[in-house]
Amino acid sequence: MHQIYSQISGWGKYVPDNVVTNFDLEKMVDTSHDWVVQRTGIEERRIATKNETTGTMAVAASQKALSVAGLTAADLDLIIVATSSPDYFVPAVSSTVQAALGANCPAFTVMTGCTGFVYALVTGHQFIATGAFKRVLVVGVELISRFIDWNDRNTCVLFGDGAGAVVLTPSLTPRGVLGFDLGSNGELGHNLILEGGGCANPFSQEVLDTGKHYLQMNGREVFKFATRILPQSTAKVLQHANLNLNDIDMLIPHQANARIIELAIKYLGIDPAKVFVNVNKYGNTSAASIPIALVEALEQGRIKADDKVALVSFGAGLTWASAVVQWGVAAPSLNGRETNAAILQEETAVV
Ligand code: COA
Repeated sequence: MHQIYSQISGWGKYVPDNVVTNFDLEKMVDTSHDWVVQRTGIEERRIATKNETTGTMAVAASQKALSVAGLTAADLDLIIVATSSPDYFVPAVSSTVQAALGANCPAFTVMTGCTGFVYALVTGHQFIATGAFKRVLVVGVELISRFIDWNDRNTCVLFGDGAGAVVLTPSLTPRGVLGFDLGSNGELGHNLILEGGGCANPFSQEVLDTGKHYLQMNGREVFKFATRILPQSTAKVLQHANLNLNDIDMLIPHQANARIIELAIKYLGIDPAKVFVNVNKYGNTSAASIPIALVEALEQGRIKADDKVALVSFGAGLTWASAVVQWGVAAPSLNGRETNAAILQEETAVV
């Protein structure tokens, strides 16, 4: 029996056009551009407008990913959507995405906050590695701005909206997810919580009056957790993939705060040139942060075929999720769609 790997053969991102700068926020809450940049590195973020939903953003990113892979929605065997800001509690947004894409396959949602995309990627990988499925779409999407109290300076400066998607297909050469590290420490869950609207606190006037329908955060505690877990999980995932730090061509950390990333770089002793950062432009897009960063790194030509990329995330739960991914398919040039489609056809036929 051959080992089946799951290579990333398509990728795409969607971010709303609407840019909200720190200067815009200065007019809404008691904050300043300098404070936000010094404490977080964030200069601006994208905020969805009325016609955009979690579903529409996920579909836009997915269509791009399918196009890069040279596939159509009808080719998909499975869709996994990671989000903590779904359009509805029921039905799951994964089914909305499946219908809007015109796919005819199973679909489910993963809800682990900012680590959702990596959890979903690792889950998608399992279906490919067992031979159960051949084409899996994995989406990280978040429209967190609708769950933010725009009068709360502790949270409203940090987050942004967006979506990123990848298509996984089988490969017999080592590609895609080479190793992973997943974890959860629910005892710390209260530090990043949206208390209202679920079974514990069903919607009521009191929920609205006390602002429990908004995301609340103990920033200092989450900061401490993040700076500890980023280096720890990076070390663990490298161990699981049988690699050391020098083998890694690029580290894509969850984009929550530039200071958290800087501290992780220091602890790890990794060359900062190998670490991708775009939190300045988008803020923390939660489950969308890693796939958006991955797509931007590809767009900037910073990931080449055979590169090993470490994706390392932390978030609500509190959870962490990391994966080392070996890049397989070259970023498509203008006519790259044919290239990817040809490689894929060959590989998928063999497996
Ligand atoms: N503008 C101006 N002042 C602000 C502010 C803002 N947007 N937000 C908070 N402050 C104030 C605080 O009220 C506090 O004032 P006080 O001392 O009078 O109480 C002061 O700034 C310092 O707050 P502190 O919490 O010590 O700041 P910090 O250096 O820890 O930075 C965060 C705050 C939120 C940026 C930081 O804790 C953080 O990034 N935490 C992790 C958040 C995260 O990543 N969440 C998502 C995880 S997936």
